[in-house]
Amino acid sequence: PHAPLIDRFGRHVTYVRLSVTDRCDLRCVYCMSEDMTFLPRAQVLTLEELAFVARAFTELGVTKIRVTGGEPLVRRNVLWLLGEIGRLPALHELVLTTNGTQLEQMARPLRAAGVKRINISLDSLDPARFRRITRVGELAKVLRGIEAALAAGFERVKLNAVILKNRNHDEVCDLVAFAVRRGIDISFIEEMPLGVIGDHDRAEAYYSSDQIKHDLEARYDLIPTTESTGGPARYYRIGGTGSRVGFISPHSHNFCGSCNRVRVTTEGRLLLCLGQEHSADLRAVVRAHPGDIERLKHAIVASMAIKPKGHDFNLGARPVILRHMNVTGG
Ligand code: GTP
Ligand code: 5AD
Ligand code: SF4
Repeated sequence: PHAPLIDRFGRHVTYVRLSVTDRCDLRCVYCMSEDMTFLPRAQVLTLEELAFVARAFTELGVTKIRVTGGEPLVRRNVLWLLGEIGRLPALHELVLTTNGTQLEQMARPLRAAGVKRINISLDSLDPARFRRITRVGELAKVLRGIEAALAAGFERVKLNAVILKNRNHDEVCDLVAFAVRRGIDISFIEEMPLGVIGDHDRAEAYYSSDQIKHDLEARYDLIPTTESTGGPARYYRIGGTGSRVGFISPHSHNFCGSCNRVRVTTEGRLLLCLGQEHSADLRAVVRAHPGDIERLKHAIVASMAIKPKGHDFNLGARPVILRHMNVTGG
């Protein structure tokens, strides 16, 4: 009946991004350093704890939960967790973001577990480039995963591409053509400076959404639309097709003013903003008072007072936020 998750700026939190593992089978250059060390088991929330946290949020007015990682599908028994979250009565949407490598086997069981929509990362259609960006990935496997997702009957499948200058910026039209052929949407993402990555210069790799849009307009008619999936993307319809292209532009079109989300890391740290350190330790609450949902809900409500206005990303400086994206929850 009431909406307790409202912050100091009047923003209503209805969307939680829940990271279920910091691990991943890929090593994308914008996300991780090459020699990542992963969290020890004891620091990671158990599946039961994750389900409990999800339930608490839905009892506080959250209607959309996106399961992320790392790569969520490498977490053992993740299907059990998704089934639990999928059954929460107040939840409207259980959605998932994945790198696609496990989808060949997992797409159908994911749909059966109640996942409604799925976002798949795809940064290049060239196998050698795909390998250079992901450091270890096999493009063909992800492409088979995408086909499996299309066959599994999700309400929507969307592609995500992080565009980096001189790595894949010349592929934006081809990526759109790929999406259009399959009748799905694609979003282009400006890279965010999370964590120091030795062999990757983010200022040098910056390629703006406006530039991408300009490149696409040579081949496509982009018609602005106010449609949204409740995420940060600004969408355009692609003339003559059923697809849309989205732009997620933390640098060039800051969207913090309409932020409706928070993140929970694998360690149970409630991050009030992707680009700031303000957080609440939900793991401590859950472990000190197992099963006490009112206490957990109280901690979540109290955290609204420290949700920051927005990020202060500066691509020209060394990253201020030292946690990498895989720990942050992509
Ligand atoms: P839908 O709109 O539900 O399809 O999802 P989405 O676009 O929010 O989710 P997705 O997991 O596909 O995320 C795409 C990109 O948007 C990722 O790089 C996210 O980290 C980024 N993103 C999502 N929320 C935020 C946010 O609050 N701030 C910033 N800076 N980036 C975000
Ligand atoms: N900046 C922007 N997007 C990123 N992702 C991972 N790391 C970064 C980053 N530093 C993207 C992935 C995936 C989504 C969950 O987050 O490519 O599509
Ligand atoms: Fe893995 Fe996604 Fe990070 Fe790539 S961006 S290393 S696929 S978690």
